[in-house]
This record gives sequence, C-alpha cells and structure tokens, in this order.
Amino acid sequence: MKLLYLIALICLFPQSEENPLSSDNAGPRRSFEDIKREIAGYSDVAKKIIDLAIHGKAQNRSYERLAFFVDTFGPRVSGSRNLELAIQYMHKVLKEDGLENVHLEPAKIPHWERWEESAMMMKPRNYSIALLGLGGSIGTPPEGITAEVLVVTSFDDLHQKAQEAHGKIIVYNQRFVSYGETVQYRVRGAVEAAKVGAKASLIKSITPFSIHSPHTGIQEYQSDVPKIPTACISVEDAEMMSRMSSRGTKIVVTLKMGAKTYPDADSFNTVAEIVGSTYPEQVVLVSGHLDSWDVGQGAMDDGGGAFISWEALSLIKDLGLRPKRTLRLLLWTGEEQGGIGAEQYYKMHKENISNFDMVMESDEGTFMPTGLAFTGSDKARDIMKEIMKLLKPINVTDVFENGEGTDINYWIHDGIPAASLRDDLTRYFWFHHSQGDTMTVQDPIQMNLCAALWTVVSYVIADMDEKIPM
Ligand SMILES: *[C@@H]1O[C@H](CO)[C@@H](O)[C@H](O)[C@H]1NC(C)=O
Ligand SMILES: *[C@@H]1O[C@H](CO)[C@@H](O)[C@H](O)[C@H]1NC(C)=O
Ligand SMILES: *[C@@H]1O[C@H](CO)[C@@H](O)[C@H](O)[C@H]1NC(C)=O
Ligand SMILES: *[C@@H]1O[C@H](CO)[C@@H](O)[C@H](O)[C@H]1NC(C)=O
Ligand SMILES: [Zn+2]
Repeated sequence: MKLLYLIALICLFPQSEENPLSSDNAGPRRSFEDIKREIAGYSDVAKKIIDLAIHGKAQNRSYERLAFFVDTFGPRVSGSRNLELAIQYMHKVLKEDGLENVHLEPAKIPHWERWEESAMMMKPRNYSIALLGLGGSIGTPPEGITAEVLVVTSFDDLHQKAQEAHGKIIVYNQRFVSYGETVQYRVRGAVEAAKVGAKASLIKSITPFSIHSPHTGIQEYQSDVPKIPTACISVEDAEMMSRMSSRGTKIVVTLKMGAKTYPDADSFNTVAEIVGSTYPEQVVLVSGHLDSWDVGQGAMDDGGGAFISWEALSLIKDLGLRPKRTLRLLLWTGEEQGGIGAEQYYKMHKENISNFDMVMESDEGTFMPTGLAFTGSDKARDIMKEIMKLLKPINVTDVFENGEGTDINYWIHDGIPAASLRDDLTRYFWFHHSQGDTMTVQDPIQMNLCAALWTVVSYVIADMDEKIPM
C-alpha cells in the first residue's frame, strides 16, 4: 500500500502542470465541507436511479439481458468462436441501446482447448475421476500417462517426499484457507511437481464446498521447468485418494488429456460511452469481462459484472442524464488468462492516463451487495464514503479497503483511484470456474441492487465538479 501511495504522489506532479482544467475550474480551494455539500446534492438523482433500477421499468433488466446472452452463447473461453460471437452480439446491442462511440478495440488473446480428457483410477479399483484440465496445460500422449499416485498436502509436504515423487502423478490435497492463498496450488502445482520429477499433477479444486464438481482456472508453467499435464479434480476425489494412501493402499491412475495450445487469436475489448458534457476527454471507466472459462455459462464470472456495468450506462441514459465526464463501459476480453485484453487496452491508452478519473471493475459476483472496495488516497476515500451515503435507501453504504480487479490493476499500479463491487461472497467459490456457473446462481433482485450501487457511484464521480484526487 505504501508503494502505491508513493507512485500516486509521483504521478500527481506532471499531471497538475500539464492539465490546466483543475486550476481553471476549481476556483478557490474547496473545503471538504463544500465537497460533502456537493455530494449530498445528488441525493435526488441517486433516489431516481435506485427507483428505476429496483422498482421501475428497468427492474430485472440486467438479469434478463444476461440470461438471454448466456443461454444464447454459452461459455466464452479465450480464443473460442463462442466468445467472438458474443462480442459481435454485444457490439450490436450496445448500439441498439442508443449508447455512444460503440466500438471494438483489437486484442490478441490465448487460444487453448481442452478436447477429450479423462482420469481412470486403475488401482485399487476401477473408477472414473471427475476432472477439468487447467488452462494452458499440455496434453498427454494419446495412450495417456499411467502412473502411481503420490498424495501431498502442501508444497512443503511435496518437498519432504521429493525422493518418492519421481515418475508419479502428484495429487495435491491441500487445505482450503482462502481463494487468494490456496489458488497457488492451481497456479504453481504443475511446476512444483515437475521440479521433483513427477509426470503429471492433479489438484484438489480451489473451493470451500463441493458436490463433486471440478473447478478449472489458469495455471503457469515456468520456462526452465519441464511442462507436465495438469488438471483439477473434485474435493471428494482428492480426499478419497488421500484416505486410501494414508492406509498404505497403492493408487494407479491413467490420465488422458487432449489439451492443445494454438497461436494467439484475434479478439476485441468492447467499448461504449455516454460522452461527458463538460470534460469529454476525462473518463470514468466501468467494467467487467465478457470471456469466461469453457464450462458452465460464465453467468456469474463475469456475466453479472459485465451486465451491471452495461446497466449503469442504460439507467443513466434512460433518466436523460449526461455527466460532465465521459462514462466509458469496457467489456474486457481474455481476462481469465491474466487480464490479457485489458493489458493491451491499457498500453494503447496509457498516453492519456491523466484523463482517467476512476477505474471500476465488478468481477467478484453480483450477489447481495455489501458495499464498495476502494483503492486510493485518504482524501479520495473520504469522498467515496460521502458518495456511498447516497446508497442509504438500499442500506449499502460501506467503503472497504483494496478495490481491485485483474483488468483494472494496470491503472491501480499507476495510482489511478479504483473501485470494485463488494457482495456476499458466501457462495461465489462454490460455482467459480465450474459447470455450476450458470444463470441458476444469479438472482434478479440482487442484480438490481448491484446495478443501482454501481450506477450511483459511477454517475456521481463522473459528474462532480472536480476529479477524485489521487
Ligand atoms: C423481477 O424478479 C422478481 C424475482 O424473481 C419477480 O418477483 C418480479 O416479478 C420480476 N419483475 C419483473 C418486472 O419481471
Ligand atoms: C478394470 O479395467 C480394466 C481395463 O479398463 C479391465 O481390464 C479390468 O477387468 C477392470 N477390472 C474390474 C474389476 O472391473
Ligand atoms: C487521447 O486523448 C485525446 C484527447 O481526448 C484523444 O484525441 C486521443 O484519441 C486519445 N488517445 C488515445 C490513444 O486514446
Ligand atoms: C442495514 O444493514 C445493517 C447491517 O448490514 C443491518 O443491521 C440493518 O438491519 C439493515 N437495515 C435495513 C433497514 O435493512
Ligand atoms: Zn472473472
């Protein structure tokens, strides 16, 4: 956090010299009391937005739009035809919605396909293990890899058993602590297993709850370590193999994976705007990602975030509002492979970074909202707390630490104020990156509330007299 703050300070200087707007328009230095009063003045607008989203004509709109979208296009993995059809569709409907500057910006994204895959337990009994290959994994030879299983509970445990690991299939049965901490087993499991000579790795899915469904996600090879096939298995199967092995039972598995990586594919970030009335070059960015994994429907990750972001522009347009700054909707491509589309967009637009007022991304569910997570200076945070008071009618006024998102982290590193949606995450990782991520987990009433919050925050920031201070 300290480093971020330092970067923010450094970035402030060239900006205030180059950009005459702040000094010209601000007049005499405004006190925090003035800013508070300005924000309180938005309470009628906020009530109108909330009313339209929750009780009015726009009730359930983001949910209905999303349901049609995911039922029509299905999952949208990077490099797939589904994703490209989905992007073309969004381009069309954003125009039909009457938004401005609707266009696509090219980006090159990874193209990986899992094809056929299976894991058959041969010993101590024949049994088909549920699995999902991990993004970017290599495949096995056509006859598969047949090897004895070595179960480990952690990387430390693996290193202690390094002598036994050679030629084995490593099964990671790590304890779930939190997604952020435990996900390292998915990301680095193959590399650590290969370092001790294993032939493949199977990782217990990164979830606190399971009904026997594996969860996929990205993993990373290391250039100086041999690549081995890697997949996630269900919590149940990892725990069963762990029990078998602690009884001294020998486990043999045949793993077959047809996974293949192809040359990078052409794709697009999708953009639409409401152009600002006074400072059109200044931007408040609201975003979510359109791509998903290749299982389920990508309704939750991140259909919900993408569609409440679209809803924000629709609601503002419906109310005939036009903020002083441009409100820009960004629907990212290639997020699941590590913010690949956003990185290219960021580089392309970096020359104008001083015009970015705030970057927002919703990519952690659109369940019952609990508040806004914010990253920025203390002064900016005080302003965000005032803005969130406008959400009092729906009782969601909290401002949390650590606003972030894979796609907006590029701007955060440059010190641009950033916000992400906070919601009830209880069930999020139950479905995350699995066949369970479908429209069935989404709720229209919760999406209405998320959209109301997202819209009030982005509109008020885009319309205030001054940019959010860095
Ligand atoms: C919105 O969804 C809720 C919950 O499913 C339902 O009760 C309500 O009738 C819906 N409203 C509209 C306009 O469809
Ligand atoms: C297990 O599968 C193997 C090969 O698929 C087969 O040869 C064997 O008979 C099976 N064993 C049992 C007990 O069904
Ligand atoms: C940077 O901003 C200027 C002024 O608004 C605009 O004309 C130009 O197209 C922008 N450049 C990029 C790469 O967005
Ligand atoms: C508002 O939220 C708080 C804390 O989440 C809760 O205790 C309170 O009952 C809620 N009030 C209403 C009117 O929903
Ligand atoms: Zn996501």
